[in-house]
Amino acid sequence: MQDTCVALKKRILIVDDEYSIREALEMLFTGKGYSVRVAVNGEDALGIVEKEDFDIIVSDIRMDRLDGVGLIKKLKDDAREIPVVFITAFPELDNAVEAIRNGVVEYIKKPFDMDFIAGKVDAIIEEKRATSEAGLKRRFKDEKEKFLNRLSHELRTPLTPVAGYLKLLLKKEFGEISPQQLPILMDMARNSDRLKTVIDDLIMLYAVEQAEVPLSLRKYSLAGIINDALLAEETEIKRRRISFDLRFYDDVDEIFCDEKKMRRVIWHLADNAVRYGPDHSVVEITARKFSYDSRMFTKVSVADRGDFIEKKERRGIFNCFYRMNGGSDDDNVNSAIKGIGLGLTLSKAIVEAHGGKIWIDEPDAEQKSGNIFSFIIPIL
Ligand SMILES: Nc1ncnc2c1ncn2[C@@H]1O[C@H](COP(=O)(O)OP(=O)(O)O)[C@@H](O)[C@H]1O
Ligand SMILES: [Mg+2]
Repeated sequence: MQDTCVALKKRILIVDDEYSIREALEMLFTGKGYSVRVAVNGEDALGIVEKEDFDIIVSDIRMDRLDGVGLIKKLKDDAREIPVVFITAFPELDNAVEAIRNGVVEYIKKPFDMDFIAGKVDAIIEEKRATSEAGLKRRFKDEKEKFLNRLSHELRTPLTPVAGYLKLLLKKEFGEISPQQLPILMDMARNSDRLKTVIDDLIMLYAVEQAEVPLSLRKYSLAGIINDALLAEETEIKRRRISFDLRFYDDVDEIFCDEKKMRRVIWHLADNAVRYGPDHSVVEITARKFSYDSRMFTKVSVADRGDFIEKKERRGIFNCFYRMNGGSDDDNVNSAIKGIGLGLTLSKAIVEAHGGKIWIDEPDAEQKSGNIFSFIIPIL
């Protein structure tokens, strides 16, 4: 029966033309639980390495029929990058330099101490495993991000005509709509808008976090950006009968920002205030100058009249895919459409890319309800 532990054993190849050394090392590493193979010279070793995999090779330098340096040169292009340790009675400088250039990781002088060599070999294998695991994780993360980015773009393409035709249908461009059809079409339009929001958010989040596209910073009118953001929310604002109250203090006028992204932040905060606040309520947007860390910022706050977000919820709310109450969506298409918790994550990424900060204000002691989301961006 096959030993199931074999696969987990560390594998070592010992290369030496001297029988006593081969035997001593073989006994040492077998005793330490390694799977051990031996070769009598470089050529012999190459033949074994071609057929089997190793975590490490411990090799003598001076040998007939391909010496240690010849062996590492042959292994240089091997994709497995098996670490090689040289043991030698004659550590000549020439050899050492060439060996290191060709990828030898350690030099051990004969006669050697058994514990010393065992310790070295263990440490080298551990390090190689750790770095290759980290490399693999990094590669996986890169691939995952690339995939998400591509997927988002792929999803947006077919959605565009769906949303476009729905709007045309609602404008009666293709004829009259029956009273039964109207709420259904409106629901479809709202749902496709939501889906588009999520996809656009994902694409923008990727671009901001990867700093793929640099911010295109210019001076813009803050009032203009807020108005544009509210215009994009118009249908929902009307449907919920919410009114907005805009207040500007300290002569705040223009801000230095990436307009498209800043509009997205304000839209998300306004959209949350509309969706999570009560119908018929007033949402207040204020802008003022703000001093922090001996620098001047523009501060924008969005205050709603909804239920307090609990303290324990406030901390995680800016995290990716965070939804309060476990985010359980109900399947009923007529229920309020919920998002997936990307808006605040994207807002945070955008504000921070501008050198700013975003937070939820602590409620006042006498305050009964309402949440205030504020962000600051530097005045340059
Ligand atoms: N103004 C608000 N009032 C109450 N809850 C809010 C408010 N803004 C955000 N939240 C909560 O934070 C969660 C995350 O918000 P967000 O990142 O915008 O994602 P989404 O709106 O897509 O769920 C929301 O699901 C909601 O539970
Ligand atoms: Mg939201």
